[in-house]
Formats: sequence, structure tokens, C-alpha cells
Amino acid sequence: MTYLGVDYYPEHWPEEMIDEDINGIKGLGANIVRIGEFAWHRMEPEEGRFDFSYFDGVMKKLKEAGLSVMFGTPTATFPAWLAKKHPSILSEDEQGQTRVFGGRRQYCFNSDKYKEYAARITRELVAHYKDEEAIISWQIDNEIGHEGSDLCYCDQCHQAFQKYLEKKYASIEELNETWGTIFWGQTYNDFSEIPHPKPTITTHNPSLKLEWARFRSYSINSFTHEMTEIVRECKGGHQTVTTNVSGGFFNKSFDHEENVEPMDFVSYDNYPVWGGLEKPVPRESIAMTHDFNRGLLDQNYWIVEELMGAQGHDVIGYLPRPDQAKMWSYQAFAHGCSNMLYFRWRGMTKGAEQFCFGVVDHDNVYGRKYKEVQSLFSSIKDHSRLLDAKIEADVAVLYDYDNIWSWRAQIQSKDFDFNEELLRLYRPFYQWNTAIDVIPAGRDFSGYKVVVVPVMQMMEQGLADRLHAFADRGGTVIFSYRTGLKDKDNNIRLGETLPGPVSKLVGARVEEIESLTKEHRLAIRGEEEWEGAAAYVSVWRDLLVAEEAEVLFRYTDTFYKQFAAVTRNRYGSGDVYYIGGGLDADTLKELVQPIIEKHGIFHVESEEDVEVYRRTSEEGSFLFVMNHGEEVRSFEDVELAPYESRIIKQE
Ligand code: GAL
Repeated sequence: MTYLGVDYYPEHWPEEMIDEDINGIKGLGANIVRIGEFAWHRMEPEEGRFDFSYFDGVMKKLKEAGLSVMFGTPTATFPAWLAKKHPSILSEDEQGQTRVFGGRRQYCFNSDKYKEYAARITRELVAHYKDEEAIISWQIDNEIGHEGSDLCYCDQCHQAFQKYLEKKYASIEELNETWGTIFWGQTYNDFSEIPHPKPTITTHNPSLKLEWARFRSYSINSFTHEMTEIVRECKGGHQTVTTNVSGGFFNKSFDHEENVEPMDFVSYDNYPVWGGLEKPVPRESIAMTHDFNRGLLDQNYWIVEELMGAQGHDVIGYLPRPDQAKMWSYQAFAHGCSNMLYFRWRGMTKGAEQFCFGVVDHDNVYGRKYKEVQSLFSSIKDHSRLLDAKIEADVAVLYDYDNIWSWRAQIQSKDFDFNEELLRLYRPFYQWNTAIDVIPAGRDFSGYKVVVVPVMQMMEQGLADRLHAFADRGGTVIFSYRTGLKDKDNNIRLGETLPGPVSKLVGARVEEIESLTKEHRLAIRGEEEWEGAAAYVSVWRDLLVAEEAEVLFRYTDTFYKQFAAVTRNRYGSGDVYYIGGGLDADTLKELVQPIIEKHGIFHVESEEDVEVYRRTSEEGSFLFVMNHGEEVRSFEDVELAPYESRIIKQE
């Protein structure tokens, strides 16, 4: 069965509206609602006085209507009485400003007091509803670490950071040696002297910055796992556990794979456009987020917040065009979403989210968006076997949070953006409509045909060895610039030529480097089968000397004409590409075509704006076809209206 529904906040509305709302929700064709995730005060209005009678009433009504429930533990918004009694639970920003009560998620992950209260409400709530058949799943907190809440610079965090380091390093001398604190005379005599990276003059030590990110990750994931364990101890056997991942995951200070490790499945909140944006993020960017979420547990996932109306807190942006939000839902189903809930049933008339529009607006008229959801639910509900089927991809894009944090500590080019660099290499495969997995670099990738390794400046020997073995057996590896620069302490290796641990694999060496800007487009010229082709790089360039490798593109500017920009090395039975700069999208699309063909990877050529994604189940092969544009487009003999999406069975 496929769960389809909405996020419903009955506590926001007069009690007498609940029957009408439930009817309206049922009228959509929904079979589930998600409730409760911000309602701590409603459940514990005063310290220690637990009262679930309101939700008992809600549950009774939902059950009578035959709706299932995903219930959120309410720890993302704590009650005012708790902040007043224990101000130490409040987190601090980089400038040392305490985040006051009033927004949400302003708790410190290292506050023992917070953990004590959060554990208690979670235990009380879950134990109260453990036998409730209608509650099929628990959601831990809400969008953990989102909106800047992953960072806190309070004294509790500072001390916990020092303890974390003390546990990790055998002695202060070892830490001094590893971090190179001899530089600028920063040698520590004791762990208690180590700062956390609040503002200073110039910049902090890169090893310290990396350890701070790892420490943040440890703090956030420990909190998540403690809460998950409590839910597991208290819940009923029929109830599953999840947490909802938010967008912007590569910018956050916690390892997401580790975060969701104890969950039964991953949930994701899909917002292709949000407050202030003039238009949605590019379609490949949305697709990549789905492939990332599917990759977290290597299984299909839920979307528990799918946008339907325009969204924003104080500033609103783009209004999704008729059928566009429906098309984004199809795109999500294509990429491995198996169950979906829309955010939110109705736009709220009061509070900070008055401008987060729902399936129904404030006027309470069941209009265009209501019908759009209705039509999506009725068209998708018969495809549950297809939506549950596992997706097999031949292409894997690798990422590693340590590497991301290493870049964040020193972006090197003012226009460097990790997300953009990952997309730069993801995009060409997406444009050929191939299936792509976006997975942590620690995962076994030996079964893929192509492994894409964007800007992996932090590279340890283990990963390098696995990549050598992969290419040796016939796989294609694609690297981009700065590969192999750093070790796991965020330091550069003495006496080593880049790309360091993968030099043999790449068959070329980096002689010099230059940091470019986005606007600075440097012309490069093709050789070999690319003879005469004109392309350009921006953001960065490695100046390469090909040793074993062939030169595919060379720089054209004075002084550097002898250096290669893109190389290909035959290694064992495989091929290894090194792309020494931020290569333009058109060239990348052409560059990957022969790779896809060589490996016989399923792909489809489609018109501009048209995305095609194949999914297969025991019922056969189906193509999800989505028109992302405002013009009529065709796919084979099917004409697609603007933002139309379809599932086509392949004969
Ligand atoms: C999500 C969040 C929801 C709501 C929504 C508004 O990030 O989980 O609680 O704030 O955004 O678009």
C-alpha cells in the first residue's frame, strides 16, 4: 500500500473544524496524516504535567475516519516555561548571542538539561500511544540541524569540544603535532586552552575547524540516536521510526548517513522553491536531492513534506504553476520516493508561517491545489508495487562529509561551492536520463560501472585503493580538480605530488594550480577525438602534465599552453578521467556520452526540459516522463503540456 496524505495541525484550528477537515482530507484520497511535531506545550503545559487528552480526541476522530498517522516527537519546539526555568538549554550563535525563545529549534545539542526534558516528553508520548494501531510511524524531532541549528557556540559546547578532543588524541602533544600548532605559536599546554572557532582575526587552524565540524556531527547524531533509542524502547511493535531530512544537507555540520543509521526509513522534505526565490532550483538539483536521500540507507524513502503552495516566512517567492507541484511529486516518485505527504493541509492564519500556503488556503475554499493533489493521489495509488521496487543504478556519485568540511574550512576559490561542484559532474549523467546513486564514499561501489568523484580533496589510502581496484576491473572513474590534496587531519602531505594517492590511477601530475572566479572563463582546446573542440573552465584550474594519460583538452592562454586541463588514463581494463577545472556543462554532457555508451548504460535522449526516468518492477518497465518547462514538449509520440507528467508502460 502507498501512504498518501497531508501534514495536519488540528491544534491550530477551532475544535469544531476537525470533522470538516477530516472529510476534506479524506476527499483528497488521503490515507495518512502527520501530526504533533510542534505540540510539546499542548502535551506538557506545565513542567511534569503530561496531558494527552487533546491528542486522544484527535486520534479517535482520525481512526474513525480510517486514517493512519505519523506522529512527530515534539522536541523541535520546546515550551516557554522550560526556557525560562533553564536558560542554559538555549543555543548561542557565533557572536555569542543567545538565541532567545520565540523561533524554533534553538536548543543546544550538548545541554544535559535539554536532553533530560526532551527524553522525558518523548518517553511519555510514545509510551502513551504504543498500542495505538493507527499510529504507524514515529518521526524524531523535525528537520534536525536545519536553519542554522546545527551550530552552537555556548560554553557547554566549548567544554564538550575540549573533552571530545581529549578523548580522541592520546595527549596534548599529539594534538599539537597533528594540527601543526607550532604555526603562529598556537601550541597548547592543556586541552582546556583550546578555543572553539568563534570569530578571531584572520582564520582558525584548518585541523581545528575540521574537528569542530566532526564534533558538531557527533553532538547532533548523539542527540538523534538517544531520542531514537527511547522511541524504540517505548513504541509498539507495529510502529516504525524515521526522521525528516531537510534540504541543504551538504551545508550542514553533521554526517547524514550516520544520523539516519538507526531509522527504519529516511523521510525527506522536498521544497524545490522557497522564500524569496524568483524561480525553482534547477531540475537536476531537485533530482540530485532525491538520489541523495535514496542513497542514505540504500532504499526508497518517504517524502513527509512535499510543497503544494508558495512558501516563506517573512518573504515569499515563486508560486508553483498549475501542475508543477504535481510534476515535482512525479519526479520524486520516479527517483525512489515511495510514500508522500503534502505540507500542509491548510495555510495558518496566525503565527510565523502565515505565508506557508497549503493544499487549502486561508479562505478555506477547496480550489485548484486541492484538485491537483486529488488528481495526483488518484493517479499514483495503483502503482504501489512500482513505487516500492528497488532502483538499480550503474552510475554512483561519491561524497564524504569530512571532505566537504575540509572545503568549507578553506574554500580556496571565492566562488567554490561544494553543492555546485557535485552537480557539475552529476548533471551530464542526469541530462542523458541515466539512473544515478549519490552515496557516501565509504559505501561499496564495486558493483557500479561508473564512479564519479567530485572535488575529493581529502583522500585517504583506503578510498584510493578501492578506486584503483574498481578501474582495474574495467570501471570508469571521473575525478575533478584538487583530488588527493589533503589527509584526514586536513593537512597537506609533504613531498607528495598531486593527485597524491591516486597519481598512478590518473596518470598525470598537477604542476601548478590557479584559483579562478565564476566569471573568469578560461578557454581550453580539445585534442585526440576532441580535436578542435572549444570549451572553458571557471572557478578553478589544475595545470596538468600528462604522464601515462592522454590529453583530451589543453589550456590556450600564454604561459600555460603546454598544460593539460582534462586527461584520460587507461588503467587496467578501465578508464580514469581527470577534469582539472570547473568544466562547462555542454562539454561535460558530450564527454560522458561515450562513457555511457561504452558501458551500455540505459539512457534516453530527450527534448529540452523533459526528464525521463525508468523504473522497473515485476509488472514490467515504466518510464516516468516529466515536462519541467512552460512549453509543450514531446517525448516519442506523446505530447506533454507545460508541467505535465506521465507514467508510460514500456512494451
Ligand atoms: C519545513 C519545516 C516545516 C515548515 C516548512 C515551511 O522546513 O519542516 O515545519 O516550516 O518548512 O515551508
